[in-house]
Amino acid sequence: MKSRSTRRNAVAVRLAIGAAAAAMSVGAAGAQTARPDPANGEALARRWCATCHVVSADQKSAASDAPTFASIGRSGEITAEGLALFLLSPHPNMPDMALTRKEVADLVAYIRSQGK
Ligand code: HEC
Repeated sequence: MKSRSTRRNAVAVRLAIGAAAAAMSVGAAGAQTARPDPANGEALARRWCATCHVVSADQKSAASDAPTFASIGRSGEITAEGLALFLLSPHPNMPDMALTRKEVADLVAYIRSQGK
């Protein structure tokens, strides 16, 4: 059986790899999060954001004039940190979604993929 410290080192290495990947895709905010998962981001977007935002190419309309995720993604300005801060102070009528950092990173990865 592996010693405790060996296991902890393995975890640290995996986190470091994930952080590097996250840093490349969403900016430095990935430092403490696992690798973002855009597929989970899409599921979250469809559940939490699609009432107001057009979140995917196959969605025709939404209930508000909120910017589409494609346009947000194209702007290239969205980062996990920015979105996390933005969602901490909910925009008008937006429910308090209490997303985790990982979920925010997943959403950002998904939103960015929509901008391509
Ligand atoms: C109840 C409606 C509603 C829901 C639900 C909603 N939004 Fe929004 N969102 C808006 C509106 C309206 C705006 C534009 C006005 C504003 O910025 O306050 C906006 C703006 C934004 C912006 C800023 C875009 C920019 O370029 O300024 C981001 C990012 C965003 N929403 C992300 C999300 C995410 C992610 C979710 C789901 C987790 C979500 N929103 C859910 C209504 C909503």
